[in-house]
Amino acid sequence: MTEKPGEKANIPALSSIVQSIPPSGIRRFFDIAASMKDVISLGVGEPDFVTPWTVREAAIYSLEKGQTNYTSNYGLLELRKLISAHLAKLYNVEYNPDNEVLVTVGVSEGMDLAMRALLNPQDEVLVPEPCYVSYRPCVMLAGAVPVAVPTNQETRFTPTIAQLEKLCTSRTKAILLGYPSNPTGSVMSRQELTDIVALAQRRNLFLVSDEIYDRLTYDGEHCCVASIPGARERTVTLNGFSKAYAMTGWRLGYACAPAEILHAMMKIHSYTILCAPITAQKAAIEALKTAEPIVKDMMQEYNRRRRYIVKGLNAIGLTCHLPEGAFYAFPSITSTGLSSTHFAERLLFEEQVAVVPGDAFGQSGEGHVRCSYATSLEKIEAALIRMSRFVEKIKLESSGPEKTAKPVSSNRIA
Ligand SMILES: Cc1ncc(COP(=O)(O)O)c(C=O)c1O
Repeated sequence: MTEKPGEKANIPALSSIVQSIPPSGIRRFFDIAASMKDVISLGVGEPDFVTPWTVREAAIYSLEKGQTNYTSNYGLLELRKLISAHLAKLYNVEYNPDNEVLVTVGVSEGMDLAMRALLNPQDEVLVPEPCYVSYRPCVMLAGAVPVAVPTNQETRFTPTIAQLEKLCTSRTKAILLGYPSNPTGSVMSRQELTDIVALAQRRNLFLVSDEIYDRLTYDGEHCCVASIPGARERTVTLNGFSKAYAMTGWRLGYACAPAEILHAMMKIHSYTILCAPITAQKAAIEALKTAEPIVKDMMQEYNRRRRYIVKGLNAIGLTCHLPEGAFYAFPSITSTGLSSTHFAERLLFEEQVAVVPGDAFGQSGEGHVRCSYATSLEKIEAALIRMSRFVEKIKLESSGPEKTAKPVSSNRIA
């Protein structure tokens, strides 16, 4: 039967899992900010640098040579060997390039593969929050249940063993770690991670460790979870080229795990993706061979901005710990009396500065906003001036005889 014009077709219901997943709170803000003029964005989570020239050139050259074919499902062996050597050099952790390294379409794909390979329906995964927006949905899309482990400023946004222990049930299958953290910039020490590994051994859990910001660790050494004795056999290490090499648009990452786990991930990858794009793989080979000095330069620049933005935020009364990694500051906005969403909305509409409300990263992010400093120092400086004006205005509103603050309707950003 065909419908009449204007009549809605009768189609089956969409996946209930997909329908139960809320849209990303980050996207909403991007879309609105993109439609406005003169916005300074501290919203984006990607480097403002362009991919190093030698890397782009290698990709162009590979195209010129007509290298436009599929690669092995695992990815180019040359790249896997380089990834394996890179991790051995940095963290003293050994992965066999033949069957323990899989080249993926970003950490995004690696995370999805890990969840689908490790989890059965109704399994539970402990997810310290606030955390990157895709963690919960990836667990849910695998039919499993994310269990939030709320963290706060007092514990440097890292979970305690007591907390994790308390939330473990007979259904708990894995702990998902993402340090250095997006959005808090927190890192976990080797000792803290060692305690988590011991817990995973005691409870027989997998560990999935998203280490995409490993190269953006400022004050100490990054600890690769798999390098901790006893961790490797139960850990999936996820990493990629997006952040350290400013290669977000190339969509390239990698997953490393013991052969049996990696093989399960590869099975899904071979049926759904087939292989990561060859041009991006050629670029990544060059990145690992030659871009190290540029990675260090970018890191130094982020470090300069990190100190600047944190000082500025604290000076205007938005208490902010010094993030130890990644490129996000996560100040508290509770002194303004506004909710995270209300703060971010008003700041965007009244001062044209885009930040992301902390609750986009889990409920325990409420009371904070995420400010990315992957943008120029000049823009950060200008954003801080606008934010200072905004905070002063809020103070006046709440202390003045007339309350001029007009609440923005909660569905203004839908
Ligand atoms: C913590 C974290 N993991 C994963 C990703 C996605 O990375 P990729 O570009 O490699 O898919 C991001 C991107 O912002 C991130 O912040």
